[in-house]
Amino acid sequence: MKTEITIIIFTIFLKCIQCSKILAIFNTPSKSHSLLGFKLAEGLIRRGHHVTMLSTFKNKPMENYTHIHLESLQNYREFQKNATQSKDKNSIFRIYNYILEMSEIFWNDDNIRKIIREKPKYDVIIMISFCNDGALGIGHHLEIPVVLLNPIGSTSLANSYLANPNMAYIPNPVITRSADNFFGRLVAVTMNAVIAFLIRTLIDPYQQDIMRKYLPNSPPIWELQNNVSLMLVNSHFSVEPARPYVPNMIPIGGFHLDIVEEMSENMRIWLDNADNGAILFCLGSTISISSIEKEKLLAIIKVLGEMAPMKVIFKSEVDIENIPSNILVEKWLPQAAILAHPNMKLLICHGGLNSNIESVFYGVPMLGIPFFGDQTLNIEEAQKAGYGVLLEKKYITEETFRMKIQEIVNNPQYTLNAKKKSALMREQPVKPMDNAIFWIEHIIEFGEGSHLKNNGIGLAWYELYMLDIYCFFLGFTLLFLISIYFMTKIFMRILKICMKRLYSRTTKLKIKKEN
Ligand SMILES: *[C@@H]1O[C@H](CO)[C@@H](O)[C@H](O)[C@H]1NC(C)=O
Ligand SMILES: *[C@@H]1O[C@H](CO)[C@@H](O)[C@H](O)[C@H]1NC(C)=O
Ligand SMILES: *[C@@H]1O[C@H](CO)[C@@H](O)[C@H](O)[C@H]1NC(C)=O
Repeated sequence: MKTEITIIIFTIFLKCIQCSKILAIFNTPSKSHSLLGFKLAEGLIRRGHHVTMLSTFKNKPMENYTHIHLESLQNYREFQKNATQSKDKNSIFRIYNYILEMSEIFWNDDNIRKIIREKPKYDVIIMISFCNDGALGIGHHLEIPVVLLNPIGSTSLANSYLANPNMAYIPNPVITRSADNFFGRLVAVTMNAVIAFLIRTLIDPYQQDIMRKYLPNSPPIWELQNNVSLMLVNSHFSVEPARPYVPNMIPIGGFHLDIVEEMSENMRIWLDNADNGAILFCLGSTISISSIEKEKLLAIIKVLGEMAPMKVIFKSEVDIENIPSNILVEKWLPQAAILAHPNMKLLICHGGLNSNIESVFYGVPMLGIPFFGDQTLNIEEAQKAGYGVLLEKKYITEETFRMKIQEIVNNPQYTLNAKKKSALMREQPVKPMDNAIFWIEHIIEFGEGSHLKNNGIGLAWYELYMLDIYCFFLGFTLLFLISIYFMTKIFMRILKICMKRLYSRTTKLKIKKEN
């Protein structure tokens, strides 16, 4: 009887978990961020949950899924893109202004204001973490736990929420330099410190001000950051140097490949007929082909044409003239489905983390042409692991491009290494998507997840990295050495006095005796 009741209660409880209402806000201007969110939402819906998702990008309609398109943000993104087509894309001030203006538009968006006004009931909120911490105030406002999705591997910034250790041997993705010697570690730690300083002094105060304009009762932003329940990290040791993860920081790299779009019949036949292998050229969703200089693009097309009888699928949003017959140009591609095809021999991409993960997951070696951010580092890691080759954009010519492609295509070692990495990513006790869902449900079931939080959260950086303890011991040791020094000095002085007295006494005795 008792067990039956337990079972009934348990099933009711499970039912409750199974139909949770989940809110997801992906307000960053990057399509690859939102794509990760869409895949996660789809996984959660398949488990029986209901998801409401706010995103800067559009998504396909699904059952139990409500999509809210943050149109104002998308328009702004396009406007920015049009305005800065030719300017220096890496200017730090431009990025800074961009972040500020995006936040302003975010809080002003009708959909966000509606959520603030109506305070709808949800069980958990999933957000992207990317210089938009003011948005954490929404979790507090709705009184629900916050789960963050970090679109790249663990960075010093991501680590700061949950006090995951920032080790010097983990390279910083912004400055590309491996951290396997003193200088490399010095650069990594310095860069982490500079980024943390900029975020804490420039971005966070601004984010806090604007958040409080719309949510006057919000706690300070550092309190919201320390209150994050869980972070899902889009990485895995098969694509990054191994590193520590605290229990509420879950690497789920590869989860987005749990649900793969189908490719068109046309493309499938094209690939099926690629008896000599196929190459995919795809620079992701953010970089446009038109941003490559004309003569470089011509060189690329020419060399890819020479690869016949190999076939090439080429992603380009613009039409390209005089395309060789072995190249199929498409505006949009189901990249994962293509890479999964057994005839695929090579991926040519920008080396963003998602492309890197896809290359590893399907065991297809890659030729990386980095554009910005962590891409150079990712490709360098792939190069070290023997499944990737780096080609800097400025060095693209017919000769270099041909040489790099030949190197990968003619040397089976690249494919072998990619397959080895693939096995590492695929052979896990649970699939990354199931792992992600398990932990989200865990937070829904067990509340804010304080049992997962380590005591490092809330410590100052010098406390977390034990500098105070080291200083204490250093002080203690110094004090000890100083006291030894003075004690020795005093001892020597006493000894000297004693010796003197002894000497004078013996001489006195001697004199007496002689007299
Ligand atoms: C949508 O939700 C309802 C009620 O929770 C459920 O019965 C149905 O199976 C769900 N649909 C899908 C596709 O999961
Ligand atoms: C950006 O440029 C494209 C075409 O060049 C145009 O269609 C679009 O309306 C522009 N967007 C904005 C927000 O100005
Ligand atoms: C922290 O999160 C929990 C829910 O997960 C909430 O009850 C609590 O009020 C939050 N605290 C702050 C300071 O936001």
